[in-house]
This record gives sequence, structure tokens and C-alpha cells, in this order.
Amino acid sequence: MKLKERVALITGAASGIGRAGAQQFAAAGAQVVVADVNELRGNETANLVRESGGVAICVRTDVSQSAQVQSLVSTVIEQFGKIDILWNNAAATTLCNEQDRPVHELPEAVWDQMLNITLKGVYLCSKYVLPHMMKVKKGVVINTSSTDGLIGQGGYDSYTAAKGGIISMTRSMAVYYSQFNIRVNTICPGFIHTEVIDPWMKDPAARSAIESLHLTRVGKPEDIAKFAVYLASDDAEFITGGIFPIDGGFTAFKTKVTDYSGLRKSQ
Ligand SMILES: NC(=O)c1ccc[n+]([C@@H]2O[C@H](COP(=O)([O-])OP(=O)(O)OC[C@H]3O[C@@H](n4cnc5c(N)ncnc54)[C@H](O)[C@@H]3O)[C@@H](O)[C@H]2O)c1
Repeated sequence: MKLKERVALITGAASGIGRAGAQQFAAAGAQVVVADVNELRGNETANLVRESGGVAICVRTDVSQSAQVQSLVSTVIEQFGKIDILWNNAAATTLCNEQDRPVHELPEAVWDQMLNITLKGVYLCSKYVLPHMMKVKKGVVINTSSTDGLIGQGGYDSYTAAKGGIISMTRSMAVYYSQFNIRVNTICPGFIHTEVIDPWMKDPAARSAIESLHLTRVGKPEDIAKFAVYLASDDAEFITGGIFPIDGGFTAFKTKVTDYSGLRKSQ
């Protein structure tokens, strides 16, 4: 049990990667706090964890709202006495799919909302959790960015800006908070089959095009969750400031040509 007696706060855990994270963290022994704006589905996640014998609560929280984040942190401290692990995973994924645009077409209101949820949410949760970790000189912060924060993704200019910001902030946080033995790392998922990308997965042409850019398949939420468990555990005690693409090779493959021998001139 790599995370026995740890308290893990996971944002955006009502579905997808965060839900798989809550389940994997609990299976590794952590007590889990699900923080999500979607209370109904957040409670479903907490119930799934409890049905498997784990400990979990859901606290409805909009991570872009300072007062709600402060109240979340107070609730966790009252109930569990500490926060060992913060996984900043919530993002405005629906907004990204439906309303993100190249900058000249991007409404200012969409930009503001995207940055408030996806980037400011990471700042707010970190701001109010870190003092509790600093007091005990130990803690782990994991952020979810995206491969879209590492390479170009045309037409998603507010999402990529927010995800790129998370990557830069991870590095500066890792440097500063190392004096408190707090590790800060970021995971950059590739295409992971959650509801967000389900429409593409249902279109055979889109699915095969996307799959061809990955190792053998698109990712599963568990691929990310298992890596997060590792990062949160003491097995990763020497790892901070890391930006980890967990993407089936997506950022490495320009096109997936593995054998260039036919193109070489014979010597
Ligand atoms: N699925 C992918 O292919 C993929 C790829 C790269 C990065 N990511 C990132 O992984 C994370 C999880 O994505 P997912 O695919 O599981 O998507 P998802 O939509 O299933 O999960 C996002 C969660 O965030 C919650 N949320 C949205 N706004 C919120 C707010 N203001 N306050 C609190 N919670 C809020 C949603 O209710 C939802 O439960 C996100 O950060 C996403 O950007 C996903």
C-alpha cells in the first residue's frame, strides 16, 4: 500500500482521469477527497471508492472561486487533519471542446473562463493547501497539464495557454518549495479515452487517425492514474520539477514511421 495513511485531495475527480485517480489512490491506501463542481458525479466517485472498501468524501468546489477553495481546504483539515497530496486535475474540458478557438476568433469571455478554471484553479488550490504542507515539511503536488502544453494544437489557444502556464508554474514551484521538502510535478496526458474525447472515438476515421499517433491505442484514464500514484508515493522521492508526457509516444511521433530502411541509399 504505497499511499497508506496519506490524505489525497484530487480536483476534477467526478469523471475521467480524476475519477480513475480517486480509485487508484484509494486502492493504494489513501483517503481521498474528491473536489469537483459536479457534485452529483463527484459523489458517485466517492461512492465507488467506498464500495471498494476505501475512504472518500466529495466536497463540491468550483476551483476558480477563492472562497470555495478556502472552504474546501478547511473542510479537509477539519475532517482528516492534513493534506499529503494535492492533485490539481480539474480543467474546463467542455469549454475547450465547444468554444476554444484560434485567438482572432476567441471571445474574451471564453479566454477568461478557461484561464480562471484551468490555470487560476491550480494557483488557488496550491495557494491554500501549501501552507499545510510547509508546516510539516512534506508534501506532493501533482498538476495535470496536457501534451497540448508541449506541442502545437491549432485552434485551442486558450486551453494551450492555460496548460503551458501550468508547466512553467510547476518548475518555479518545484524550485521554491523544495526547501520545504514538497515535490511538484506535472503530467501531460496524450489522448485519453474519457467522455471528453468520446465523440472522436466514435468516428472510425478520427479514431484510427488518432490511434496512429500513439503506441498501439489511445490512453486509458488508468494509465494516468497509475503514474500519479507513483509520483505521489515515496518511490518518487527524488522526483520534482518534472514534466512527464504520458502519451503513448504522441509527442515523440511526428508521423509514426518506424522503419526508414527503404528510404536509405544502399551503401
Ligand atoms: N482526456 C484527454 O485526452 C486529456 C488529454 C490531456 C489532458 N487532459 C487533462 O486531464 C484532466 C482530466 O480530463 P478528463 O479527460 O478526465 O476530463 P473530464 O471532463 O472528464 O474531467 C474534468 C473534470 O473537471 C471538473 N471541472 C470542470 N470545471 C471545474 C471547476 N470550475 N471546478 C472544479 N471542477 C471542475 C469537471 O466537472 C470534470 O469532472 C484535465 O485537466 C484535462 O485537461 C485530458
